[in-house]
This record gives sequence, structure tokens and C-alpha cells, in this order.
Amino acid sequence: MDWGLRNRLSRIIKQDGRTVMLAVDHGYFLGPIKFLEDPKKTITPLIPYVDAIMPTRGVVRNCIDPNIDVPIVLRVSGGNSIMGRELSQEAIITCMEDAIRLNVSAVAFSIYIGAEYEHQTLVSLSKLVDEGERYGMPVLAVTAVGKELEKRDAKFLSLACRIVAELGAHFIKTYYCEGFEEVTQKVFVPLVIAGGPKMRKEEDVFNVAYNAIKKGAVGVDMGRNIWQNKNPIGMIKAIRAIVHENRTDEEAYEIFIS
Ligand code: 5RP
Repeated sequence: MDWGLRNRLSRIIKQDGRTVMLAVDHGYFLGPIKFLEDPKKTITPLIPYVDAIMPTRGVVRNCIDPNIDVPIVLRVSGGNSIMGRELSQEAIITCMEDAIRLNVSAVAFSIYIGAEYEHQTLVSLSKLVDEGERYGMPVLAVTAVGKELEKRDAKFLSLACRIVAELGAHFIKTYYCEGFEEVTQKVFVPLVIAGGPKMRKEEDVFNVAYNAIKKGAVGVDMGRNIWQNKNPIGMIKAIRAIVHENRTDEEAYEIFIS
């Protein structure tokens, strides 16, 4: 791994080997989803508590203060929508030149294993990795499962994550699942977990984050379970404590309610 690429990655994954990323890229296929109608209002108060932010370039240019010192992981895949026939039909929608112009620290691309456009997403990811290596830009592969959330088991996720690691992704965003240690053991690049749709109880979010870290994830890249909560600052502080201070899920809940 080249110096520039390692340097960019070190801005995201901190010295303790962990990271708290804030996912705010949902609008690229979901439009103005609940609590992200005004991205600036949602994102700004959370910035002091996160290690990286994951938006689209539209949100970066219009809703994020360029003076911040928080690295951006730029969503560069899209071209699909929740209204479309097939969610997996994603391609590269933002070129490397624009990612560099925005001074981002990594680019993020979704792949869809087992879906109609699996091949297209895997080939595009590989091309993005070629460009990432050329320009010193880390690539985050997002192992999206689209509408079929029931596919979220250890066998499927270890297959998806291992494939993108083999294709050269520098770090991976996936989902937590039963037997998550099987996923981390079979994948040789850092893994962060998404939160998925908002859970009913905060305790469940902390439990997922705690177990993911215990079983080998280097952090989280959560969105809805942070900013769709009525107390987003409490959520992010509690998640930080799990990720960076090795606190338990019960301790995180105490932090959340304090
Ligand atoms: C889905 C994505 C998202 O849009 C987002 O980043 C997910 O975050 P969360 O599930 O925690 O709301 O990457 O593939």
C-alpha cells in the first residue's frame, strides 16, 4: 500500500485501529428520507463526535462546511433508486478526479452479490480499486444486500466480503449477523458495520455495535440508528464509547441516558 493511500486511510481508522463513521449517503437512492431532509441540520451537530463522514458529493458541496477537519468517505456508486426495478444496477457516478478535487479520504462503492447486476458492480469496484491505487485513494466496498435483507447471514456476508477483499477493496462495510466472527476471520481487510433500518430499542443498537467490535470489526459506519433517534448526540457518544473505549453495551446505554 502506497504512502498516500495509507495516510488517507489513517485519517479514517484512528491510531487505536478503530473508527466511528457517520453514514449520511442514503439520499443517493432513497431521496429525502426521514431526518435527512435537511442534511446540514442533521450532520453539523454530529461532526465533533465522528471520525469520518460518508456523504455524496452533492451533500459535501452544499451541506458540509469546507473548514471541518473530519475526513470524508465519498459515496461514488449510484444510478439506481428505490423506485426502480432493480436496486443492484449501480455504477460509478463520481469520477476519481472529482473525489481528489473534494480532497476526500476514501471513496465508497456498493456491490451486490447474487443480484442481477452482480457482475457490473464487481467489475466497477475493481476499476475503482485500479484508480484508487493509481491516485492513493482507499476504496470502501459496501456489501449491500438491497431489498433482500434476509440474506444477511454469516455464509453470505463472508462470501461477499471475501470477494471484495480479493478484488482489492481497502476496507469493507457490511452488516452484523449471527456468527459474525466467521466473517471477520475469513476477510483480511478491516470491516466496519452498517446499522441498517432504525431498531426499536437503543439497547439493540449498542448490543450489535458491542458484539461486532468484540468479534473483530474495526468500527461502525452507522446512519439511521444515530440520526433517526430523538437523541442523536447521545447515540453517537455511546457508540464512540463502545468503539474507542471498549465499553460494554450496558455501559453505552448508561452513557446514552446520562
Ligand atoms: C447502504 C448504505 C447506506 O446508504 C448507509 O450508509 C447505511 O447506513 P445505515 O444502514 O446505518 O443507515 O451504504 O448500502
